[in-house]
Amino acid sequence: MPNLRTETLEDGICVLTFDRPDSSANIFDTATLAELDAEIDRLAKPETGAKGLILTSAKATIFVAGADLRGVQTMSPEQMSDFMTLGQTVFSKIAALPFPTVAAIHGAAVGGGCEVCLACDWRVASPDACTKVGLPETKLGLIPAWGGCTRLPRLLSVPRALDIILGGQTPSARHALKLGLVDDIAPREHLIHAALAALKHGKHPNSFAHSSTMNAVVDAFIAPQARHAVMAKTHGHYPAVQKALEVVLKGSSSSDEAASLKLEREAITELLTLDSTKNLLRLFFLQERAKKITFAAQPQGRDGTPLPSAGERSEVAGAAESAPSPAAALRSPRTARSAVPTCAVIGAGVMGSGVAQWISSRGGRVILRDVDAARVAAGMGNIAGLYASGLRNRTFTEREARDGRDRVSPAPAEVPLRNVDIVIEAAVEKMGVKKTIFRGLDELVGDDTILATNTSALSITELAAATKHPRRVVGLHFFNPVHRMQLVEVVVGRDTAPEIAQRALQFAQRIGKLPVLVKDSPGFLVNRILLPYLTEAGALFWGGASIKDIDAAMLDFGMPMGPLRLIDEVGADVALDVAATLAAAFPNRLHVPDVLPAMVSAELLGRKAGKGFYRYGKKGEAKPNKEAAQLRPPRLGRPPGRDELEKRMVLLMVNEAARCLEEGIVETPGDVDFAMVMGTGFAPFLGGPLRYSDSQSAAKIVAELSRLADEAGPHYAPCARLREMAEAGKCFYEN
Ligand code: NAI
Repeated sequence: MPNLRTETLEDGICVLTFDRPDSSANIFDTATLAELDAEIDRLAKPETGAKGLILTSAKATIFVAGADLRGVQTMSPEQMSDFMTLGQTVFSKIAALPFPTVAAIHGAAVGGGCEVCLACDWRVASPDACTKVGLPETKLGLIPAWGGCTRLPRLLSVPRALDIILGGQTPSARHALKLGLVDDIAPREHLIHAALAALKHGKHPNSFAHSSTMNAVVDAFIAPQARHAVMAKTHGHYPAVQKALEVVLKGSSSSDEAASLKLEREAITELLTLDSTKNLLRLFFLQERAKKITFAAQPQGRDGTPLPSAGERSEVAGAAESAPSPAAALRSPRTARSAVPTCAVIGAGVMGSGVAQWISSRGGRVILRDVDAARVAAGMGNIAGLYASGLRNRTFTEREARDGRDRVSPAPAEVPLRNVDIVIEAAVEKMGVKKTIFRGLDELVGDDTILATNTSALSITELAAATKHPRRVVGLHFFNPVHRMQLVEVVVGRDTAPEIAQRALQFAQRIGKLPVLVKDSPGFLVNRILLPYLTEAGALFWGGASIKDIDAAMLDFGMPMGPLRLIDEVGADVALDVAATLAAAFPNRLHVPDVLPAMVSAELLGRKAGKGFYRYGKKGEAKPNKEAAQLRPPRLGRPPGRDELEKRMVLLMVNEAARCLEEGIVETPGDVDFAMVMGTGFAPFLGGPLRYSDSQSAAKIVAELSRLADEAGPHYAPCARLREMAEAGKCFYEN
């Protein structure tokens, strides 16, 4: 079936519409590119009488979403090189058409979808939120190689193109207009008119300067600065970013476009063979999967918990890009009614206000409740601050920010919550407080309101027992900062009804988060794995290692933030509460490190207090805090070097991740790795702790853990799953 169609308007203007059959998205696979190639060849013939060409899409939210990544994932280097040559050839033919061309963009024009637009003379875009124009390839370990690295610097200038390509940016239409990436904005229904107007400008005057002065500026200033910035940001772990930089710099140093295209092709073919690229592509597919997972009733597990199992978590084939599956919507009449359900958030602290802001930014109405007017006001202030920074970085327009703020209603006193679809409790991490809140909700909520808690580690099942409606209680564990972290753990308690689990899952998907289904167990999945790492970092600090060495060891490993800095972000008091819950649950291997209560007593609570392991300046700059070091007992012996620090912290995470799988906290290794990358930023290029274990081999991990169990403490003893795998020479993943 054809993936595109062309119609000719009266005056020889052709409109080519991408419309992939039976799909909500357009993508470029070999078949589509071949069709496009044939169509462009036809239009180029004088006898066709074409005088202009408009490219557009028939889809609701997507122009062209880029290359067929599933196909790319399985390509040999030769096949990849051929695929790249095909795309480059077709797009170059578009660029060389003897009449003007314009892309009329509504929806995502990303990756190859953006590159086909760059091959046109002009670009007009709709202002809708779904319209994004950009090149995210480096985030997937690839580079734009259908002309993106060649045409973007020629269109915008080298520094601007580098910002977009190295950052994997996909700006909104308005931002793209400011950058010069699109030439005009018009409402969707007037896009074709705007495109016709753009065609009147004729061919694009190619103004890119290749003068030797320009090259000298690039060589002398831009190149060294960009190389330095890339190294500082990636620690050398993301070869695609480095390759993209070199291709752009070299490719734009002369006017020879063909030579630049060849560089693109060679670089991407090489990148596709790297483990880091394979891991980033796998994570991309895990994200796509999370957008579509569903929960359906299953027989109860041995311990009575309705375990998520392979059958329950199915990808819905052919489902829309990010929309919940049609099947799921049918099962959930209530959420199917409105786009984003009405919510109440109880607790207006760091998390409550973050959650409320996020939901309101997604169109949901939120009642924000706390114990008194001052605390509600502080939460509202925090929300206003988040909108203000979203305005500054162009996430929102003025109007969107104002409308978003208006959707949050402050509630300093008890209000009825009968018409609320979902209550999210985000009060302090104390079981007693949470139980009182849940008991109180019995009288306030409607007949099918979901009762969700954002607890970090407390038992959902125990909390549910405090209400008259344990079936309606579910964990919805967001991560901090809410507006940046995409993961939400949907925690299914013993009594949680499957319908509630499904609605909670769907709610997370509706508000644009990526859910993972986890069993109710202390710390759930992410905190369970993260806590041993954080407490070990605390213990290493207490034993004499420096803040700088501990955090630098993990930054070098590929974490986005060091563990002590992370404790500061979470708050030493919150970390202490969570550590205490987990230490009580796993007393054989987890202890609350002395440093946490000491930090709390000394009021070194972290960033919210202006000081913790670090001291925070007015602009948020952080310097190691001497006060924290002064709390330590006298040092015994030499602290470990950075390599050993890294091993001690990383291997505890690997061991605990293997245990979570062993205990069925989640179903698959992919769930563990996905949640750790999305919830903690665990080195994405390594693919997550279990992928990392596979890359090292279970035998090597077990040998190191056994050594550490002898030298550093019995909490390092490798778990049964890892030992069995080491003996049998097995991996977590089959491929
Ligand atoms: P926070 O201390 O910033 O905020 C807690 C808020 O709850 C305070 O404003 C307090 O006045 C309010 N509160 C206390 N009792 C209340 C009651 N009876 N009714 C209404 N409000 C009440 O704490 P934070 O960090 O926002 O944590 C909230 C929850 O989210 C905790 O369960 C925590 O474990 C969890 N969480 C925290 C994360 C973090 O990084 N801080 C990450 C993920 C979850």
